Amino acid sequence: MKVRINEVSPRDGLQSQGKTLSVESRLSLIQALVNAGLKNVEAGSFVSPKAVPQMAGTDDLFARIPERNAVRYAGLVPNMKGYELAVAAGANVVNVVLSVTETMNQKNIRMSLPQTVEVCTAIIERGRGEGVEVQAYLAVAFECPFEGLVEPAVVARFAKLVEQAGASKIIIADTIGAANPEHVRRLLSAVISEVGSDILSCHFHDTRGMALANITAALDHGVREFDTSIGGLGGCPFSPGATGNVATEDVVLLLNSMGHETGINPLDLIPVVSLAEQLTGTPLGGKSFRWLSQQLSKASAAGMSHGG
Ligand code: COA
Ligand code: ZN
Repeated sequence: MKVRINEVSPRDGLQSQGKTLSVESRLSLIQALVNAGLKNVEAGSFVSPKAVPQMAGTDDLFARIPERNAVRYAGLVPNMKGYELAVAAGANVVNVVLSVTETMNQKNIRMSLPQTVEVCTAIIERGRGEGVEVQAYLAVAFECPFEGLVEPAVVARFAKLVEQAGASKIIIADTIGAANPEHVRRLLSAVISEVGSDILSCHFHDTRGMALANITAALDHGVREFDTSIGGLGGCPFSPGATGNVATEDVVLLLNSMGHETGINPLDLIPVVSLAEQLTGTPLGGKSFRWLSQQLSKASAAGMSHGG
């Protein structure tokens, strides 16, 4: 079974780093990810540089992005201005963010929940009219750092709304890494009864070490697309307590081991983890990083002795 991996480190990963990377450095990370076989990359966001200085210059970044025809590049946008910038920059996909609680929208984009719903549906509908693919994040879908647990029925209602507006994907996001597999089952059952599983993707943070377990629960519900971040890079500057996304190398290893097709060799990801560490100055690496590094050393030693 094919499973799509969406690499989000250039956006979700970098936006929360203390160190702001140059466009050049961000491009070098993207190039390395593409070289390692990633075909779906959220390359950056078109947001106010005052709100998120780490994402300044995303239009310049898109102008110089590698292998534009072979890779599907997404840009995250908070409002119509962001949509216009993303389309002008040549993003293949535009991602809107609908946090499912009032306070999270206020903190993240200074809009009320009803305003956010209006803006998101307007962008999705405009994209449909203009032939631009628009995906919708449902953020803090499990738990909000300000309002606590979220009822699955609430998320299901928003999923139906963005589906009807014409979103190509609905990304169920555990922004603060608070989900557990049982919660995933309850939430996905509610959402799938409204919109089915084909339109769904899941975005888990590994804050409490449960992201891989949550992914297997989502797989059981027919979800075939996941957001990941190289080395577990990430967080959310507006969401207290949010740490990194689930590590790409862990998810690829999990899925490949289970017989799913990701099209990615996890060993190819190890040098990218090292590059991301070097660029950000942050120690990185998922749960399988050490083991994969050992396998890579063995493989290159064997390669060298055979090759002479
Ligand atoms: N891209 C770039 N600049 C933008 C923008 C966008 N999408 N939307 C607004 N701006 C600019 C405005 O032009 C204005 O610039 P100026 O001060 O030079 O005139 C400034 O940002 C403020 O605009 P305003 O409409 O008053 O927005 P705000 O201050 O209420 O902030 C957002 C609202 C949405 C722009 C801001 O909170 C934001 O960008 N948030 C993104 C948060 C984020 O990325 N979260 C993580 C991902 S979910
Ligand atoms: Zn996230």
